[in-house]
Amino acid sequence: MQFADCVRSRKMVRSFRSDPVAPELVERIVELASRAPSAGKTQGWHFLVLQGAETSQFWDTTLPAKKRSSFKWKHLLDAPIIGLVFADSAAYVARYSESDKSSTGLGNSESSWPTPYWTVDASFATMTLLLAAHDVGLGALFFAVFSGEDELRELLNVPTDLQLIGAVAMGWPRTQEKNISGLSASRTRRTPAQITHFGKW
Ligand SMILES: Cc1cc2nc3c(=O)[nH]c(=O)nc-3n(C[C@H](O)[C@H](O)[C@H](O)COP(=O)(O)O)c2cc1C
Repeated sequence: MQFADCVRSRKMVRSFRSDPVAPELVERIVELASRAPSAGKTQGWHFLVLQGAETSQFWDTTLPAKKRSSFKWKHLLDAPIIGLVFADSAAYVARYSESDKSSTGLGNSESSWPTPYWTVDASFATMTLLLAAHDVGLGALFFAVFSGEDELRELLNVPTDLQLIGAVAMGWPRTQEKNISGLSASRTRRTPAQITHFGKW
């Protein structure tokens, strides 16, 4: 797929078949995501991948059975992969304490950072992952973990200092039914003219 086609045709997919995704494809997608840029090449992102039956740990914790009857995206729960994206702020403080970066002062503490680049970098990696998935015909949805985070972290043994950025559901899209759009889908896309401020604001 051409790059522009990949970017233009990507949409968040909220309806999946439960068929597994080949491990080679998962590896390819994560390898491409690992190419994302990062501050000081810190690469302070982690993906915790739940596959097949393991995904029920995610859903049972974040969307308990009693809340499911009113949940709009029934086939989101069929996604064979749930990836949790984490950012490691301590890795950035450590990296910027190294001799080539220490003059920035960013190696002192997280609070020295005007912008949390660990969040930026994990987001860049996640965007690359979404495009890489789409490029091979897989569907994916990045979504927030609104509830059950503490319980989930404990269940999955996640180090306490990592920041949860969000979740990615991934798998083969259900093509026999119309993909159910998110509530924001009808919003119009901002044009380049609305986005860009040439020369001054
Ligand atoms: C930071 C972020 C958080 C999002 N959270 C959710 C979410 O919790 N649930 C959901 O269905 N979609 C979520 N989305 C998907 C957006 O609704 C979607 O990207 C947007 O409507 C544009 O649609 P498109 O990506 O299909 O072009 C999120 C997207 C981003 C970037």
